[in-house]
Amino acid sequence: MLRLTYYGHAAIQLSDSKHTVLIDPFITGNPLAPIKPGEIKACDFILVTHGHADHLGDTVALAKRHNSTVVATWELTNYLAAQGVAVHPMSVGGSFEFPFGRLKLTPALHGCGGSAESEGPAVPANTPVGFLLNFAKKVIYHAGDTALFSDMQLLSEKAPVNIACLPIGDNYTMGVDDAARANEFLKAERCIPIHYNTWDVIQADVQAFQFKIEKQGKKCTVLNPGEFVEL
Ligand code: NI
Ligand code: MN
Repeated sequence: MLRLTYYGHAAIQLSDSKHTVLIDPFITGNPLAPIKPGEIKACDFILVTHGHADHLGDTVALAKRHNSTVVATWELTNYLAAQGVAVHPMSVGGSFEFPFGRLKLTPALHGCGGSAESEGPAVPANTPVGFLLNFAKKVIYHAGDTALFSDMQLLSEKAPVNIACLPIGDNYTMGVDDAARANEFLKAERCIPIHYNTWDVIQADVQAFQFKIEKQGKKCTVLNPGEFVEL
């Protein structure tokens, strides 16, 4: 059984009886984080969509504590490896069979031009991505930070997407209307809204999103930070 836990913003944990995978573990400094990084008990793999601080988050500390392997784009993994973290570099469009299942790096329309916003060494320029992964017999799409793009329809061609985690906060990413339109392309069975209400600038009407997804005949699971769904 898959357990999907939401830690606020874009931070998602996937676990089953064998594996725990964290995506974009922004806990420290996340106003919505329901836990402290120390409360994460295990993670085999950490997947990072891009190098902005609200996605990279606690990756280095968590990876060191749990001996996790961090999967991200080549530029970002070089930066992480230099800090003593075990990494698996990939690039957009590529896929690889990991112990938890197959992972593909999908395009994301966003920027990440390098910055010194995090403590420690400056993050190099890196290409933002999303993740399409097989985990616990489910196909899960985490869009990362992205605008709407019509090639999202390609993501469900090979296998239907069971769960799509879509940013709805607007300003930096898709808003409610574009995220709902995204699922017209994806046709995911279930949507989970992410990347909203963390700060004033990304306040979103989550009920409006839920209404639009349900109008498509699909499910929308709104998780408060700290809540999980088992599927
Ligand atoms: Ni970003
Ligand atoms: Mn972001």
